[in-house]
Amino acid sequence: MPNQQPGFATRAIHVGQEPDPQTGAVTVPIYPTSTYVQEELGKNKGYEYSRVSNPTRSRLEQNLAALEGGIAAPVFGSGMAAINAIATMYKAGDHVVCGNDLYGGVPRLFNQVLTGFGMEFTYVDTSDAGNVERAIRKNTRMVYVETPTNPLMSLSDIKAISQICRRKKVELVVDNTFMSPYFQQPIALGADMVVHSTTKFLNGHSDGLGGVVVCTRPEQAEKLAFLQKAAGAILSPFECWLVLRGVKTLAVRMQQHDRSGRIVADYLAKHRKVKKVFYPGLPDHPQHELAKRQMSGFGSMITFETGSVSNANKMLKKVRVCSLGESLGGVETLISHPATMTHAALGEKGRRAIGITDGMVRISVGIEDVEDILADLDQALAAI
Ligand SMILES: Cc1ncc(COP(=O)(O)O)c(C=O)c1O
Repeated sequence: MPNQQPGFATRAIHVGQEPDPQTGAVTVPIYPTSTYVQEELGKNKGYEYSRVSNPTRSRLEQNLAALEGGIAAPVFGSGMAAINAIATMYKAGDHVVCGNDLYGGVPRLFNQVLTGFGMEFTYVDTSDAGNVERAIRKNTRMVYVETPTNPLMSLSDIKAISQICRRKKVELVVDNTFMSPYFQQPIALGADMVVHSTTKFLNGHSDGLGGVVVCTRPEQAEKLAFLQKAAGAILSPFECWLVLRGVKTLAVRMQQHDRSGRIVADYLAKHRKVKKVFYPGLPDHPQHELAKRQMSGFGSMITFETGSVSNANKMLKKVRVCSLGESLGGVETLISHPATMTHAALGEKGRRAIGITDGMVRISVGIEDVEDILADLDQALAAI
């Protein structure tokens, strides 16, 4: 297929993952080096110091840029480090419009750190693009959305919001962590930058933290490369390698996550102890049509309502195949309680304002045999 654009799985396995020219090794070598020998003053082989750049990191950055359709993809030590790097591309007095239902660590960074440096944030329900438009002011520089959101699985229309942003000359940043580039391509829909916690589906094995910002314009890439050097929140060569390894199976993992996610969501929707299920693949999800248009799968993130914190606790104590823990996107099924875990930082009032209840449970359906996941949920829900 010489003139054909390689497909997603081929890019995941081969872009930046070419065999090592020196040895023929089929996997990218890990370069655990802090510095590089220089032949003479000003003469080096493209690398000077690993905070600035590292060959293993460069390969991962090429790979992730290719998967999201961007021009560069600087990686950082965690998803939050990547989001912080984006925010520090702006300055005091700049205003950001953000979704009001984001991973709890994001408003914690915005409200408790960045407002101290003079940035301003307005939170709106971005599932209605009109709310975004109304919140944009003269000093707005960025619109920041997560879609689907964590944990309410609400969607924002990336294309519609990107058209508003273009008109208002504001940059649109989309957190694509939940869908991964396999199921959603925000840049093709008009986003200016895409962010991921690579800790989740991109790595896929719950064995390393990381973050990436995929850029569409050279000036963004230059600013972020400068921030890697200046602020130093970079990803280590070993953790870059873990993502390079994990990403090779992203396509097959996502297909299985999606298959099992649909089965588990259907099961929960029919369970008499479950009061409500939040999953964009269910026909009664308020944005099911947008989900079908904007994403090529529904993924494996599901939130459901057990009715009370005591019910949630009763079932969570019983799970055996599902592991009770924070995080998501790994091969293992992870189950969590947003009110006391991922969204504790919002406080009760903040959670109530956006509809996160104490009885909500979030599940990241893994790729174990789905019958085992269902049997585990069945015996755990029987405890309610
Ligand atoms: C959607 C989303 N974005 C960003 C983050 C932050 O990523 P990290 O934990 O790698 O810092 C998370 C973490 O759970 C997340 O769920």
